[in-house]
Amino acid sequence: MKKEFPENFLWGSSISAYQAEGAITEDGKALSVADLSTCKNGICQNAVSSDFYHHYKDDIKLLAEMGAKTFRFSLSWPRIMPQGEGELNFKGIEFYNHVLDELEKYHITPIVTLFHYDLPLPLFEKYGGWKNRKVVDLFLNFCKVCFQEFGDRIHYYLTINEPDILLMYGGHGLDLGGEEDFQKHKLIINHHFAIAHAKAVNLCHEMLPKVKIGPVFGYVPVYPRTSNPLDMMAANKISDIQNSFFQELFLNGFYMENVLNMYSRKSEMPIIIKGDMELIKNAKSDIIALNYYKSDVAYSSNTDQGYQLIANQYTKQTKWGWDIDSIGIRYMLHDVYYRYHMPILITENGIAEIEEIGSDSLVEDLYRIDFLRSHLLECKKAIDDGVELIGYCNWSYLDLISTSHGFEKRYGLIYIDEKNNNKRIPKSSYFWYKDIIKTNGGKL
Ligand code: BG6
Repeated sequence: MKKEFPENFLWGSSISAYQAEGAITEDGKALSVADLSTCKNGICQNAVSSDFYHHYKDDIKLLAEMGAKTFRFSLSWPRIMPQGEGELNFKGIEFYNHVLDELEKYHITPIVTLFHYDLPLPLFEKYGGWKNRKVVDLFLNFCKVCFQEFGDRIHYYLTINEPDILLMYGGHGLDLGGEEDFQKHKLIINHHFAIAHAKAVNLCHEMLPKVKIGPVFGYVPVYPRTSNPLDMMAANKISDIQNSFFQELFLNGFYMENVLNMYSRKSEMPIIIKGDMELIKNAKSDIIALNYYKSDVAYSSNTDQGYQLIANQYTKQTKWGWDIDSIGIRYMLHDVYYRYHMPILITENGIAEIEEIGSDSLVEDLYRIDFLRSHLLECKKAIDDGVELIGYCNWSYLDLISTSHGFEKRYGLIYIDEKNNNKRIPKSSYFWYKDIIKTNGGKL
């Protein structure tokens, strides 16, 4: 018999603090490095962003009306601890407690990321950011505060959002010291992420034994262009660099030497102190969170070493050149589940567009419905194949600041009308998703 979505499947939606909250210097919050990276020509879109900080009650009410079982958001380190160390900002803690109150009111399970790019700016100014091992301990301190203050009101914690994408593409304030500095230190930064992750996992298990915690990867499947064995090797190589390298490190405490070698010309090697690898290996995550947007195609430029990416002739692309590939999500689920055998949460999946409200005050985002439907159907097939997928959050719940293109690139189920006091306008996809949740995927 075909397996369906389990009855307690966590249907939900996702945002992150710096992309949605706004209020970047309100009620004691300090700036984060991510806040700076979204300011261009003196305009900081994230100063207001989706203004979740002031609208969270209405937003969570709408979320409940959609039938959501879960909500994935992140805690802003500089809102809770403005300097990144030392004094706490009680207004910040109060804000997240209010968010949790609202979620509890509607029986919505919180899934919370501890670090979604917003390192407090003072930690960059004082210590140079994540390249300094001191920041690992400061992060752990921040985690301790969160575990103490919010305890098991939060059922799932995620440690660091997409260390893989951060390392591959940089930005998000990691490059405030300049591109060259980032390239040089990227493996050191990554090693610090892995230790920070492991320490947070252990601390969470110690302080909150009932709570689940795990990493978040941004997985991009890589296909070979042809059956030429060299193309297959090229695809494997790129997949090792952008996927396996991180999964093996964070989940198995193992460095893939082929990838380290590849970096060795441009980057310093990670500084591994005695005990680091045991620490990472022994910190056992409970879940794996995966973000999925697209796949890539690789080919070999005719030597065993050269490899390149090329457009996929079988898929369409988004305006921003990302391959729309629903089967890729099933490929990812198989690959990760049958390698690591752990429950999986999809914490991001979605499509962006440039959107405006129609004259009838509607946003008919049929392409988003198509995208979500086709991806969810593939998730269902993966469940039928035995993958333990326990939840799915689309990206994003609200229109918010895209990390690459600001507010122009909209992902939300809910339109934010920034010209009209940030009015919330549910798009067609919101109502479609509501029906899908109500029927536990039956209407897909
Ligand atoms: C993920 C991030 O990598 O991709 C999100 O976790 C981000 O924060 C999303 O918004 C989409 O990327 P972008 O650049 O289109 O915003």
